[in-house]
Amino acid sequence: MALEAIRYRRGSLTVLNQLLLPEQLRYERVDGVGRAWEAIRAMEVRGAPAIALVGCLSLALELAAGAGPEGDVEALEAFVGERLRWLLTARPTAVNLSREAQRLCDAVRGWVQSPGVTPQGLRESIIEHIEGLLEKDREDNRRIGAHGARHILQRVPEGGVTLLTHCNTGTLATAGYGTALGIVRALHGQGRLTRVFCTETRPYNQGGRLTAFELLHDGVPATLIADSAAAAAMRDRGVQAVVVGADRVAANGDTANKIGTYQLAVAARHHGLPFYVAAPSSSCDPALPAGTHIPIEERPRRELTHLQDHCLAPPGIEVWNPAFDVTPHDLITGGIVTEWGVFAPAELRQALAERGAAGGQ
Ligand code: MRU
Repeated sequence: MALEAIRYRRGSLTVLNQLLLPEQLRYERVDGVGRAWEAIRAMEVRGAPAIALVGCLSLALELAAGAGPEGDVEALEAFVGERLRWLLTARPTAVNLSREAQRLCDAVRGWVQSPGVTPQGLRESIIEHIEGLLEKDREDNRRIGAHGARHILQRVPEGGVTLLTHCNTGTLATAGYGTALGIVRALHGQGRLTRVFCTETRPYNQGGRLTAFELLHDGVPATLIADSAAAAAMRDRGVQAVVVGADRVAANGDTANKIGTYQLAVAARHHGLPFYVAAPSSSCDPALPAGTHIPIEERPRRELTHLQDHCLAPPGIEVWNPAFDVTPHDLITGGIVTEWGVFAPAELRQALAERGAAGGQ
């Protein structure tokens, strides 16, 4: 059975509770925006694209159930804007939800202004727009996988490739297939993946709990390592490239991703390994000139001091628990892999301007 983070059909949304993995596979019902906000904040669902999808789908669910004003298109537009603004307060770093919210609000504006629009027609258009995001995300990920695999294989013309990845960027973080893990999957599908090392990704262990689970489930050759073993794996275990995901890529290519990404990029530079960021265009934020402007979420101290209910640190210790860090663009030596192709960080701004103007296709 294929793993799915999100199960949706009109009128029904359930998400795999990722806090319970790998011990339990339990889907939780999301009945609207309020419950989606909680699931995102608590990280039952996580990963930048999945956060955006669950947020938007929870709004579609409310609209399909008749929530919001009925007789007036402007009032419905205001309702949608207000629900989306609330969702955006759940987690600050990943930009995907905010970009999808902006696209949706722009589309709604256009529909509201078109002649003959009815409240019911507007409601239906919004729901269909949101439902289309699931397939778009899966397609984008397949393209990312293909572009990334091709780029890596240009450097390794023969034999298998050994990669290292961080956090979870796969099916569990997206509508399916994954971004950085999409590249891993594409190489595996072509018979060119020797092995992928996945870091445990402390403190929340998305690598150990989720990536290891997902790769094992799909029969991809994988080795779990402690975060602190990454540099040694690069030197002693034949790693040929590092591929990670992104929560927000600034216009200059600086990239926020799961805490620990920056130190992997530093280690990759030391070992002369190409460092790739796999990110759909919805993870890119052309409005931000550089990574210093990216808001970095800090998570509760308990997520560092405890493993589930087991205490790992003395109660009085001061804790700093950033969920993400920013990797400067000059360390992204392989490239930024989007659904459009692979770009050097210096080319990203231009690519976003050209494709953004064309509607992102
Ligand atoms: O805190 P998380 O688990 O939401 O962090 C996830 C990551 O940092 C991922 O690398 C990123 O969202 C990309 S997922 C395709």
